[in-house]
Amino acid sequence: MVTPGRVRPRRLRRGGALRDLVAETWVRPQQLIMPHFVLPAARGVDPIASMPGVARLGIDDLVRAVAADRELGIRTVLLFGSPAAGTKDPEGACAHDPAGTVPRAVRALRDAMGSDIVIITDVCLCAYTDHGHCGVIANAQVDNDRSLRPLAEMAVAHAAAGVDFVAPSDMMDGRVAAIRDALDVAGHSGVGILSYAVKYASAYYGPFRDAADSAPQHGDRRSYQMDPRNAVEAIREARLDEAEGADMLMVKPALAYLDIIQRVRAATTLPLAAYNVSGEYAAVKAAAAQGWLDEAAIVRENLQAMVRAGADVVITYHAREALRGRWL
Ligand code: PBG
Ligand code: ZN
Repeated sequence: MVTPGRVRPRRLRRGGALRDLVAETWVRPQQLIMPHFVLPAARGVDPIASMPGVARLGIDDLVRAVAADRELGIRTVLLFGSPAAGTKDPEGACAHDPAGTVPRAVRALRDAMGSDIVIITDVCLCAYTDHGHCGVIANAQVDNDRSLRPLAEMAVAHAAAGVDFVAPSDMMDGRVAAIRDALDVAGHSGVGILSYAVKYASAYYGPFRDAADSAPQHGDRRSYQMDPRNAVEAIREARLDEAEGADMLMVKPALAYLDIIQRVRAATTLPLAAYNVSGEYAAVKAAAAQGWLDEAAIVRENLQAMVRAGADVVITYHAREALRGRWL
């Protein structure tokens, strides 16, 4: 039996320098990815009510924001586009328009910043279909195999515009392989795939669907996104996407799924991203606005938890404020 008093964990907590010396987890600016919503216009700043501090931006405004963020240390962006008004259809054809919002935004960022910035684009049909589902509908179902071609074409359009990575978020089976093949055939073997491999059917996406105008007009996404009750299945999804050629994997959402981040981290050698999603952001913002939580401390603790659980990379709407306010 060890006498209390001989072994004292508190000796390692006696001061800030000592705590930093033995800290196991550090969140680095280089790990953070800032998401952006892009408008089909050159100019515009359109605030999103349920995501205070986040706005949909016209392409020129996006370039300005990304350049300013880069000075803070944010070097990676994830882009979501809105199509021009009146262009949504059942197939989401405007998603692979080479002159669409996202390809234009990618070209503008690349022209302004060259290879100083890592550009990732979301690949999914839900913002481009009139029904708001992530794939094509046939016989009243989201048809997996018919959705693969438009998704692959969307990825190729983004690759041709100059992205570093495409990030498919649709959760169709086989889409990583379909996208990998299409990219390679089109001569984009250097463009990577960050797969939303482990994406749950979550109520935490609510504010995002306002921002991207991508809510399903009927039904829900439970026939393609994962059931929150499942953890073993996350490993199956992760392994499949790795085998299909994904270069990085993602778990989404983050905070209610830290156990999943930990399990997937142990099951793959690929870099792993956690998506700190819109509802997680909105909940912190709402409580902070009431004075009920200390936003800086909460964001620090949340980001540390994601990295401690095993995330190598964190996608977060709080990236700018966290760095500007030196919250980390
Ligand atoms: C589109 C997509 C969604 C998110 C990222 N890509 C929403 C959804 O699947 O309904 C959610 C991001 C967030 O909530 O911040 N497939
Ligand atoms: Zn979608």
